[in-house]
Amino acid sequence: MKLWAGRFSKEADKRTNDFNSSISFDSRMYAQDIEGSIAHASMLAAKGIISQEDGTAITAGLAQIKKDIEEGRLLIDPNAEDIHTFIEQTLTERIGEAGKRLHTGRSRNDQVALDIRLYLRNECDEVLSLLDTVIKSIDSKGAEYADAIMPGYTHLQRAQPITFRAHMLAYSEMLKRDISRIEDAKKRMNSSPLGSGALSGTTYPIDRAMTASLLGFDSYTASTLDGVSDRDFCIELAGALSLVMVHLSRLSEEVILWCSWEFKFAELDDAFSTGSSIMPQKKNPDITELVRGKSGRVFGDLMTLLTVMKGLPLAYNKDMQEDKEAIFDAFDTVKICLSTIAPMIDTMKMIPENMRKAAAGGFINATDCADYLVSKGLPFRDAYKATGEVVALCIRTGNTLETLPVEEYKKICDSFDDGVYEAIALENCVKRRGM
Ligand code: ARG
Repeated sequence: MKLWAGRFSKEADKRTNDFNSSISFDSRMYAQDIEGSIAHASMLAAKGIISQEDGTAITAGLAQIKKDIEEGRLLIDPNAEDIHTFIEQTLTERIGEAGKRLHTGRSRNDQVALDIRLYLRNECDEVLSLLDTVIKSIDSKGAEYADAIMPGYTHLQRAQPITFRAHMLAYSEMLKRDISRIEDAKKRMNSSPLGSGALSGTTYPIDRAMTASLLGFDSYTASTLDGVSDRDFCIELAGALSLVMVHLSRLSEEVILWCSWEFKFAELDDAFSTGSSIMPQKKNPDITELVRGKSGRVFGDLMTLLTVMKGLPLAYNKDMQEDKEAIFDAFDTVKICLSTIAPMIDTMKMIPENMRKAAAGGFINATDCADYLVSKGLPFRDAYKATGEVVALCIRTGNTLETLPVEEYKKICDSFDDGVYEAIALENCVKRRGM
């Protein structure tokens, strides 16, 4: 029987029911729905809007429903319209009249706006803790190979020597910004919409501050219309999660390069890589490729949410039911990526000899050579030009800056002396920059 059976003279067509139903994806909010309803019923009883006995029967009934779902005694009906309806109807079947009083002074519009905030608050905490774990993995991998020298790149061309620690620090900084973005969005989300009713509040003497505080909100929404129809927090969070995926995807791309035979800077643990069905020699960095690929899903979720919300008139519109699959998918995806990438990084072995070999080729210390001439009193532009000529000479004669004899250096610029070798030693290059 539908909630609105009184107004209608016909049952809904099965296709209407199936199309309308959100239970297949909103049932995951059952605990938040019950938590919200318990707070609402407690407030109704405290304000004398329902009797204390009804209040007690409702809260006990709801707590039992939660336990029964968790322990597998109560199966969520896949044909129910949504989780809110299922729980309210189950409660009424179980406790009778009192159950029918739960929805006093409330609408499913403020109910769903509440549930999704409560649900996402937990999801944020999980992602924040996973981000923290990945940051720790990145930092300790950086510390493990703190002094390993590798080429720093611009345009994927060897640019200047850096340490592996410095390279990894860039990634932990990105993820720290992600943490602060999620915490920030979480703060704005932490305002209770409960009491907004369908759109214009309610005529009952409800206490919005009480339900807000029972549910751990900092405040309640000043506008009831905005309270039911705001999904900015979903969009902000999907934006923050998209950036998490951009960062994980960039790191993944580098790990993929490092694992190639062309680089061979890193070797993934067998437990965190995969083989090929046909090529026996293959060891593939599938995890990182999937992370790179899954970034597309999360960006898609963000686009879904933006597109669902644009052009919606106030207040609630059924379009907004489409928010959940998108934001749930974004959180699910980020969580699985973070929890898989952390142990993959923990077990990844770097190959410092190969990193150093790559840093030793490609005239990566040419800037330091020019800086050395500047220390001898040359203007930087002249030092730059002289060093360019030295590099060209090395290429012609099959030398590196390290192997070119000092007499050859002097032929190009007489400010050069033996001190140049100390100036271009890779260890000194990174040390002087505090890398
Ligand atoms: N399942 C709905 C949603 O997710 C709940 C709100 C329904 N409200 C309504 N007036 N039809 O948005």
